[in-house]
Amino acid sequence: MTVDLQDLERRALEALAAAQNAEALDAWRVAYLGKKGELTLAVRGVGQLPAEERPAYGKVANEVKDRLEAAYSARLEALKQEELERALRAAQVDVTLPGRRPQLGRLHPATQTLRAIYAIFARMGFQVFRSREVETDQYNFELLNMPPHHPARDMWDTFYVNEQVVLRTHTSPGQIHAMRAHCPAPIRVILPGKCYRYEQVTMRHEMQFHQVEGLAVGRNITMADLKGTMVHFARQMFGEERRLRFRCSYFPFTEPSVEVDMDCIMCKGAGCRMCKQTGWLEIAGAGMVHPVVLRNGGYDPAVVAGFAFGMGVERIAILKHGIDDIRYFHGNDLRFVQQFA
Ligand code: PHE
Repeated sequence: MTVDLQDLERRALEALAAAQNAEALDAWRVAYLGKKGELTLAVRGVGQLPAEERPAYGKVANEVKDRLEAAYSARLEALKQEELERALRAAQVDVTLPGRRPQLGRLHPATQTLRAIYAIFARMGFQVFRSREVETDQYNFELLNMPPHHPARDMWDTFYVNEQVVLRTHTSPGQIHAMRAHCPAPIRVILPGKCYRYEQVTMRHEMQFHQVEGLAVGRNITMADLKGTMVHFARQMFGEERRLRFRCSYFPFTEPSVEVDMDCIMCKGAGCRMCKQTGWLEIAGAGMVHPVVLRNGGYDPAVVAGFAFGMGVERIAILKHGIDDIRYFHGNDLRFVQQFA
């Protein structure tokens, strides 16, 4: 049995043009050119023809086969091209759109507050003196007039690295470093940096925080200098109308020791939630440098005197910006830091 090859070719080409995707194209290939495809079977049918008709039929069949194969390749190419164009169109960019703004970084509020503090003290002639965060027990306690087993050590819950090494619990060990570096010259420095305490973390306490320590050593330095410095700082930081009070306190490394309070910026002293109804906010611990500490720093307490103070940077920031939880500072929440442009 032979087949009308012209008709087969016409039908095949029509079906090919209708194939719109790779699967349809493949199905077409199987249907016409596959092992049991129509054309393959038609070519095989040549055996049934009388011998004299075979060459002519075979020739036409082979030509049809070549043409269908060529048409198949062309269609395959065309489909690939279409697909590529579709993909390109899907990925099209509108070059007239405005660009995407890169996120701008900013300084952390603790850093901003530190810098504001540096600026105020710089105008009073204080230089920045940096010292290490990992301290020896000797510098963190002993040289600050706290021998081993001194009960005042309990004022600081301490992270111990080993028996002799601690994470500094305050910036005060920097006083000794600064004195030993400057002695016998007079000193006017601030010592900023991170401190660590083994604290239960709450809205008021963090186990890592910043302090700025102040230290002035020289002839004729008196408590009046300390008071003037603190008053000026508070007024620069929180407004010219601020009033301060100095409350008796105790630190082993200062004598006398005071706690520096500022009238509450929220209620102006009337009493509110921020100042726990007292009308006052504590901003620093301070005092006159203890003679033992001066001597440990290399100075003669009979010749020079000094004052020192220490304040919590996050606490200053909290008061300045009305932040209600110290944990935000290390919470890594962009919504917090982005408020401090
Ligand atoms: N180091 C003290 C503290 O962390 C603060 C302080 C510094 C007090 C300097 C007096 C003088 O509590």
